[in-house]
Amino acid sequence: MVTYYIFALLMQFRIFIVFGKPQVPCYFIFGDSLVDSGNNNELETEAKANYLPYGVDFPEGVTGRFTNGRTMADMIGELLDLDEFIPTYATVTDQQMSKGVNYASGGAGILPETGSHLRLYNLGGRKIALFGLAPIGCTPVEINMFGTNGRRCVESINDAVKSFNDKLKPLVDELNHDIPDAKFTFLNVSHISSLQQVFPWPNVPCCEVMVDGQCAHTATTCPMRVLSIYFDGLHPTEMAHNVIATSSYIALSQMDASPYDINHLVRL
Ligand SMILES: *[C@@H]1O[C@H](CO)[C@@H](O)[C@H](O)[C@H]1NC(C)=O
Repeated sequence: MVTYYIFALLMQFRIFIVFGKPQVPCYFIFGDSLVDSGNNNELETEAKANYLPYGVDFPEGVTGRFTNGRTMADMIGELLDLDEFIPTYATVTDQQMSKGVNYASGGAGILPETGSHLRLYNLGGRKIALFGLAPIGCTPVEINMFGTNGRRCVESINDAVKSFNDKLKPLVDELNHDIPDAKFTFLNVSHISSLQQVFPWPNVPCCEVMVDGQCAHTATTCPMRVLSIYFDGLHPTEMAHNVIATSSYIALSQMDASPYDINHLVRL
C-alpha cells in the first residue's frame, strides 16, 4: 500500500510535462462530483465548489472541482499525454468537442448514469473504463452521521458498496463478451483507495466543513494536504485522486483493474 502512495507522490509533480503524442484521439468523462470540473457552476444546485478553498492547489485556482487540486479524471488525461484538461460540457466549443468533453456533474445519481456506456457505444466509444464505487462508508460525513462502532469506517455502507461493485465487475465481463468490438474494463476503487492502511489517523476533512460536508466558504485548510485522504467531508484530496488515477493507469495489483488497466486498454 505504501507503494501506491509513493507512486502518487511522484505523479504529484507531473503537470502536463508531455513527452509523447496523445495516446487516445478523444476522452469523454461521465460521473458525479468526484470528476466534475465545473459543470455545476451555472446549474441550479446546492452542489457547488466554485469558491475557495476548493482549487487551492489547482494551477488556475477555483474552477468548480470538488477538491484542492486536480481530479483523477484530470490526471488520467495527463497520463494519456493529452495536452490540456478536457473542457466541461458547460464551456466546450464546437471545435474542442471532438477531442472530448467532461459531462460529470456534482450530485449526479448512479441511476441515470447506468445507461451511459451504451449511449457512448452508439456515439463511437469503443474503450470504456468503468469505475466502481469508492468506500463511501469511510467518508467523514458518513462516519459523523452513523458512527463506526470502533471501526475505521461505517461497515454497513461499505457492504452496500461492495455488493454494487461485485455486480458491476461481472457486468463488465458480460459486456466484453456481448460487444466484442468494444473493450470495457472495471476499476476497483475500493481496492486502490486502501490508503486507509498507510494513514493510521482517523478520516477527517482537511477543510472546515458546513453541515452538508462541503467546505465552508474561504475555510482554512490543513497545511499538509498530501497527508490527508479527504479534502472536505465527502471528497478526496488531490493526493487521494492521484493514487486512484495512477493505479488505474498502471495497476499495481490484479485486484485494481479487471481485465485491463487503462494503459493496457488504450493499447488494445
Ligand atoms: C475490490 O477490492 C477489494 C479489496 O480491497 C475486494 O475485497 C473486492 O472484492 C474487490 N472488488 C471486486 C469487484 O473485484
